[in-house]
Amino acid sequence: MTDLTDLQSHLLAAIAASPGLDALETCRVHALGKQGQVTLLLKTLGAMSPEERLVKGPPIQALREAVTAAVATRKAMLEGAALDAKLAGERVDMTLPVDLPPPGSIHPVSQVMDELAEIFADLGFAVATGPEIEDDWHNFTALNIPETHPARAMHDTFYVERDGAERHVLRTHTSPVQIRTMLQQKPPIRIIAPGRVYRSDWDATHTPMFHQIEGLVIDRGITLGHLKWTLETFLKAFFERDDIVLRLRPSYFPFTEPSAEVDVGWTMKNGRRTLGGSEGWMELLGSGMVHPRVLTNAGLDPAEWQGFAFGVGVDRLAMLKYGMDDLRPFFEADGRWLKHYGFSALDVPTLSGGVGA
Ligand code: DAH
Repeated sequence: MTDLTDLQSHLLAAIAASPGLDALETCRVHALGKQGQVTLLLKTLGAMSPEERLVKGPPIQALREAVTAAVATRKAMLEGAALDAKLAGERVDMTLPVDLPPPGSIHPVSQVMDELAEIFADLGFAVATGPEIEDDWHNFTALNIPETHPARAMHDTFYVERDGAERHVLRTHTSPVQIRTMLQQKPPIRIIAPGRVYRSDWDATHTPMFHQIEGLVIDRGITLGHLKWTLETFLKAFFERDDIVLRLRPSYFPFTEPSAEVDVGWTMKNGRRTLGGSEGWMELLGSGMVHPRVLTNAGLDPAEWQGFAFGVGVDRLAMLKYGMDDLRPFFEADGRWLKHYGFSALDVPTLSGGVGA
């Protein structure tokens, strides 16, 4: 009897003194595990006569219950203490200085697209969109680009192949949106179509994905004069200078006739080429009068409707206006570049406040 009492006080003292959950578990195994002291005592009951068991059984059972209860109590206590310590460690000190990651900002491409939408909205243009995975017909055929045209060559165009499906391309320009718009809307039409385009190319001024904005006007009696005025008005507003001078150079695009490449004039100021004036010329965009065959392909009668179209690189416009000389960092997601060239989300472009505010 005294042996059991001694063992119990010894075990309960060890349990009460166990400093942590691991130590407590060791105590528990020591007493109640398969080879534990209490378990071994319980096992002796089996070999006893019923009379003996009646006498010796209850104190051993009582010992087991006392040890089990002590372990549970100590366990709850230790877990409570661990939780308190965790909560104390996680307390937020509202008076500490805040260490925020660098704030995000508007990417120059988004900024320029917003500026363009603002300028063209003021001229009565709506924004149209089309798919980036385009079919051959919209991207090439309907735009009067014959099978043999170099733009269809493998090294320029990304093809999208799927078993059993018609071959598609990643659109190589925003011009297919012209076709989609003419098929969907009745003229008069005035739209711009900004978006991503894809070509297999990679150097300081070419990336495999870049951005274009397409313009399309369809109405009765449209002439090259309307095209020139629209481009001049747009570029003066975009570059925020009145001395922008344009030069229309005869060129060739399959979807326009006549076609013109548009150069913008620059002047040397403090050893730097600055837009404005006409000391030299820089190629800026492609344009022309919509080819009668394109009108027909889009379901319009060229005897009744005429139009002009233009296409310009948005990234190139951003580089010229904001002074970047390499296109590749545009798409490298480097926070330092964006911090330098990005725009505040609160500086929304407006014609009254300055589109490039
Ligand atoms: N789609 C042409 C390109 O990607 C750009 C272009 C030229 C668009 C003349 C036009 C246009 O709408 O009239 O190079």
